[in-house]
Amino acid sequence: RIRRRELRSPHNLDSFGPCFFSIFKSLVPSEDEIVKQEQLLLSLRKLVKKEWPDAELHLYGSCANSFGVSNSDIDVCLAINDYEISKLDILLKLADILESSNLQNVQALTHARVPIVKMMDPVTGISCDICVNNLLALVNTKLLKDYAQIDQRLRQLAFIVKHWAKSRRVNETYQGTLSSYAYVLMCIHFLQTRKPAILPCLQGMEATCRVIANETECAYFDKVEKLKNFGARNKESITQLLWAFFHYWAYWHDYTNDVISVRTGRIISKQEKDWTRRIGNDRHLICIEDPFQVSHDLGRVVDKFSIKILREEFERAADILQYNSNPTVTLFEPY
Ligand code: CTP
Ligand code: MG
Repeated sequence: RIRRRELRSPHNLDSFGPCFFSIFKSLVPSEDEIVKQEQLLLSLRKLVKKEWPDAELHLYGSCANSFGVSNSDIDVCLAINDYEISKLDILLKLADILESSNLQNVQALTHARVPIVKMMDPVTGISCDICVNNLLALVNTKLLKDYAQIDQRLRQLAFIVKHWAKSRRVNETYQGTLSSYAYVLMCIHFLQTRKPAILPCLQGMEATCRVIANETECAYFDKVEKLKNFGARNKESITQLLWAFFHYWAYWHDYTNDVISVRTGRIISKQEKDWTRRIGNDRHLICIEDPFQVSHDLGRVVDKFSIKILREEFERAADILQYNSNPTVTLFEPY
């Protein structure tokens, strides 16, 4: 493997800035779509209230963390304090309720790692996954949203990276590649470690919000309106960042020893996490620490075949941004 630390981004890359920016703009969901998402949420709330008056429905994932591209499914969490009935029974009951109203393709996936009910709303055309009491997902959704408000380059970078990952089919956890959530964490960490830094480490600052979610203490500084100028000393453009992001993952990241950690805003070692060998199905071939569930490696889905595909795709992207005369098209060519 050739290391190309000495390479710099080509000077003409910045001429593609406006084009990358318009790709970003085209991915942002329309006002109309957001209204439809809210409509669906309201009608789901009505259905749920009838059965469980004290339960709440919350949006999480990309429709609530500000990293949602247009035409995404929505992720919803049912927060319910009913200790009489098990989580799986709640899911099955929920599936019944949805089935008997006008929702389509209702399916309860009770054996998934995160059990959910899937369905499609024929009125808005939106598909939706509902989970039960996944409070950590609500907290990490807020963390991502808070980071996005600090510097607009994060959202731009993450939209383009997500679009690239979907086009190249490396955003499929059931195929051993990474979740959208993992890609956003990679972008946050990358911007935390630029010099000068573009993002702070919110969990390393004095905590202004503190919750216990699924037995895990979550605390961080969330007064992000005070951090609006945090990244101003760094003048890197979105194309320079995109170039550096892919070069980092293609040629600079130390896959053997390093873990990226948004929680600390630094690289930490596999050694200190005891992620040096395969345990069960966790292989730790690319290590991305979950900010709150610190024993979770979001790279655990990656196996010895998919790591190769992933790294080849990082290299392909890095090389396109280095040499290709038409990077805004070639980067996203369907796999
Ligand atoms: N999530 C999590 N742990 C994971 C994967 C996901 O907690 N290992 C939670 C996160 O709150 C994440 C949400 O589930 O925001 C949805 O995950 P994902 O589908 O990967 O991301 P989205 O942001 O919804 O992306 P997409 O636009 O592809 O739907
Ligand atoms: Mg989603």
